[in-house]
Amino acid sequence: MFDSGVGGISVFREIKQQLPHVSIDYLFDNAFYPYGQLSETQLVERITSLISRVVETESPALVVIACNSASTAALPALRECLKIPVVGVVPAIKPAASHSKQNAIGLLATEGTVNRSYITALINSYAAKCNVIKIGSNELVEMAEMAYRGTKPCLERLAKICAPFNNNVDTIVLGCTHFPLLSRYINQVTDHQIMLVDSGKAIASRVAQLLSGGEIKAPSQRIDRALYTKPNLDNPLIVGLQQEGFNQINLIN
Ligand code: DGL
Repeated sequence: MFDSGVGGISVFREIKQQLPHVSIDYLFDNAFYPYGQLSETQLVERITSLISRVVETESPALVVIACNSASTAALPALRECLKIPVVGVVPAIKPAASHSKQNAIGLLATEGTVNRSYITALINSYAAKCNVIKIGSNELVEMAEMAYRGTKPCLERLAKICAPFNNNVDTIVLGCTHFPLLSRYINQVTDHQIMLVDSGKAIASRVAQLLSGGEIKAPSQRIDRALYTKPNLDNPLIVGLQQEGFNQINLIN
């Protein structure tokens, strides 16, 4: 699994729930975090070179790009250079459009993701009948990183960022894997009837489908490792990853 930071952990939890017997290497590219501020060209270059390298050394059965910013920019390029299945995470526009009774949905993602042509195409294909309010926020990504480390976000600031959704939409797509880590706070600052949707469960089901028929390991052989690209992780993060159940936390070069 891959993300720039801890966002993909929201997807990791869904996969662990559906596939507790599967060993997962969770690679986060803290050297290039945050991804929401990188151009498509930078993302394609970094992601293809890093992931092909790690796939070669670790030989996973498949790769999950648990990051919308990375998936919406680099999926086709990545699929071209890898021989194994690549599961990407893209904002859950389609389920949100079918859930919305008012045909009015919100998209909360990184600045990079909301401005990508991929998103315009997704909205045109699956939510053409909906009014879509898009909010791109890189600040929320950092809030989620801090929340994972045990620091409660500033609700006033969060309310200000999410304010355009209130009275205007009945469904919000969390189009960044960091944002489900803030769900309970987003619920607190948005209208009560608004439903939040993300892609975590759908990704886990897709992974389960692709791995079905594979070998099931004994519990003693299961190892979940967190891998990272820049040294000196802070202590609250190490504690969080250990509590998540990662048996090893290793720097890769
Ligand atoms: N978790 C990522 C996403 O889904 C990116 C966050 C970032 O590094 O900006 O978009």
